[in-house]
Amino acid sequence: MPITSTRIKTKDEYFSHWQKAHEVPQDFWAKAAENFQWMKPWSKVQSGDFNDLEIKWFEGATLNITANCLDRHLETRGNKTAVIWESNDPNEAPIKYTYKELHAEVCRFSNVLKDQGIKKGDRVCFYMSMVPELLTGVLACARIGAVHSVVFGGFSAQALAGRIQDCQAKMVITCDEGFRGAKTIPLKSITDEALESCDTVISVLVRERTGGKITYKEGRDHSLLPLIKKASNDCPPEEMQAEDPLFILYTSGSTGKPKGLMHTTAGYMVWAGYTFENVFQMEENDTYWCTADIGWITGHSYITYGPLLNGSTTVMFEGIPTYPDAGRFWDIVDKFQITHFYTAPTAIRALQACDINLVRKHDLSSLKVLGSVGEPINEEAWEWYNTEVGKERCPIVDTWWQTETGGIMITSLAGVTESVPAHATYPLPGVNPVLVDGEGKVVEGNPADGNLCMELPWPGMARTIWGDHKRYKETYFSTYPGKYFTGDGARRDAQGRYRITGRVDDVINVSGHRIGTAEVEDAINEHPAVVESAVVGYPHDIKGQGIYAYVILQPGQEMTAEELTPQLNELINKIIGPIAKPDIVLPVSGLPKTRSGKIMRRILRKIAAKDVENLGDISTLLNPEIVDEIKNGAGL
Ligand code: WT7
Repeated sequence: MPITSTRIKTKDEYFSHWQKAHEVPQDFWAKAAENFQWMKPWSKVQSGDFNDLEIKWFEGATLNITANCLDRHLETRGNKTAVIWESNDPNEAPIKYTYKELHAEVCRFSNVLKDQGIKKGDRVCFYMSMVPELLTGVLACARIGAVHSVVFGGFSAQALAGRIQDCQAKMVITCDEGFRGAKTIPLKSITDEALESCDTVISVLVRERTGGKITYKEGRDHSLLPLIKKASNDCPPEEMQAEDPLFILYTSGSTGKPKGLMHTTAGYMVWAGYTFENVFQMEENDTYWCTADIGWITGHSYITYGPLLNGSTTVMFEGIPTYPDAGRFWDIVDKFQITHFYTAPTAIRALQACDINLVRKHDLSSLKVLGSVGEPINEEAWEWYNTEVGKERCPIVDTWWQTETGGIMITSLAGVTESVPAHATYPLPGVNPVLVDGEGKVVEGNPADGNLCMELPWPGMARTIWGDHKRYKETYFSTYPGKYFTGDGARRDAQGRYRITGRVDDVINVSGHRIGTAEVEDAINEHPAVVESAVVGYPHDIKGQGIYAYVILQPGQEMTAEELTPQLNELINKIIGPIAKPDIVLPVSGLPKTRSGKIMRRILRKIAAKDVENLGDISTLLNPEIVDEIKNGAGL
């Protein structure tokens, strides 16, 4: 059956589109790409595979993603609201940009970047709170062909410096301070500290937000808003090659320092646009709100690019769910008559734990579709979301994907395919998941359990780790050669629907944030009294997973957990940021190790989860006696 439109409208269509994308991917994606505007057409839809890792999509084509997000809509939707910005302070007026205004604003910002000497290919680092200029700045980079790298405003100076150094950014764009609920974050002074160890940055732009006291370094630092105000709004989009880098985004893995995943222009655009259209099924006058921060991939693909590529209205929120009270999300839903609401399970669980009247006193009748992202959603949270927020009339899309995948991979399609509690369900067209066992053998048939891999390239996948293609290959394609390994475990039910069970590697998912255990251990080990540490995740009611740190102290150091914890917290705040602080610290005299010296994390995970009935075989340990001691220390 030929596909005439890329919008999937029925479940049968979903299956036929998936089949077509599987059998003739080049035809399928050529058709999907026709929805976008190209400067030059492609000569080849796709080349490269998971063995050569020279993956290219739409080679030969030229384009600019902002021409697709902005210019393309001017004629048909020029006066339609593109972005609604809602302040941290509920009493501050929201800011609305029509497509025309957003276009002009992005052009002005682009000219500011050019005036500062930023050219195609240069890296620009953003370290901001959720101010409108984070969104317009990212688009301004894309417009002139500069590569944006957004660093979440909760990371420390040292973490920021590491990222600036890794991508050799020429510019940093920050705020004086960021508002976050009742707190402010000193973004500029953190930037100043980071820049002491970065020599590639020639210019810093500061978006003044709180008016807090900061210092400007002569010749390097400039106040952003006055520059934007006086810049020209004429800036034609730069002609980019399909595989030119669009952005770098750092994320944690099981080993080593964070990886700068690099996404390229054409494939990412098609994937962000196509997935947004089909997953959320928006209509022209709908209003969409994704509560993420642009510092994470969700904010790139589903606050910024996806909605704008589709000419939708997207809401951007500066604050947090619990300020001024835990009804804030629902205030905003009613205020803007949100139709499509996309948030994380951790937020749902946190709000579920608050006074139910904070939800029930709101109307919420504008809502049509609810989304979940970032971590597995437990059935209880799913049911609460469905009944209390969706009033049992809004389909829930549980969207599984990763920084590496660029966009949504496994999900139901709102109102088209069925929502199943706690199940991401079906792979999107172009997504070819397989489950493999420990030996790398594909587990056939349904139902099945295994490690989740992808068999074929898709347009939105990250092409490399910035500056380290070898690490890209080793991290994702060497565990199961010829396949992309996601790091997640999954179960496929009798109907072929996927349920993601969580990470099977040494990555912890805390409140939807990915934290590498090795990174936390490295930070803890910096403490002069610490000999060695082991960090694992454990089930946490609100955060999904909490961080549990086992710490061996130097002989003679008699610190209790109460004494040690604040010191380690301070250290982790400094090296990574507050999001990586352990929930539980346990001083121990040793760690369970195999004869080859490897820490048996399986045992530590079980103790952390208070699941010590069946610890499995510990007789092969070098030091089996340590297990009882740790159990006692943990109060078990
Ligand atoms: C990891 C990716 C996806 C953007 C935000 C996080 C977990 C994500 C789901 C979901 C179960 C999920 C996985 C994945 N995850 N979405 N719907 N159900 N798990 O991006 O920081 O790159 O983290 O988040 O473990 O591997 P990320």
